[in-house]
Amino acid sequence: MFVLDQSQIEEYRNDKPEYYRQLTKQLEALLAEDSNWVTNLSQMSAFVYQMLPDLNWVGFYLVNPKNEQALLLGPYQGKVACVHIPFGRGVCGTAASTQETQLVEDVHAFDGHIACDGDTNSEIVMPMVVDEQLKGVFDIDSPINNRFDQDDADGLSELLDILISKTEF
Ligand code: SME
Repeated sequence: MFVLDQSQIEEYRNDKPEYYRQLTKQLEALLAEDSNWVTNLSQMSAFVYQMLPDLNWVGFYLVNPKNEQALLLGPYQGKVACVHIPFGRGVCGTAASTQETQLVEDVHAFDGHIACDGDTNSEIVMPMVVDEQLKGVFDIDSPINNRFDQDDADGLSELLDILISKTEF
């Protein structure tokens, strides 16, 4: 797990909305160089993994071009992961089929959860919708129970909006 320095962790814990505002500015600068999707989804995964504490997996599952009812592993940071996830299965498949953010306090209590990384205890998964079309989901996992709150959901959703606006899919 990547470890932030203590002052960054304190800034994050003291004022999450302000911390995410700083991240949005940094992400805009980071993604300014190119609009290629592999490049930008890779940078986004690494950026979120580095800039938020207590994460063990951050990345994307994309709608599989060979089977549009399933997700295919995309750019990520963390341990090797499951390659295919059918729509409706696990947290990622549920986010894809409902097109709604899934904020899961305890993944072990989530029906059908797919345990790719046994370290994961809580997670947030957001649908990535571009021009009203689902492109995939953004999955962020933590070893800590109940790691994510509404401030994280709001902040991460802003970061995802920036990624979408800077990327050609
Ligand atoms: N936990 C996810 C599977 C993906 S991994 O966490 C990387 C799920 O149930 O959808």
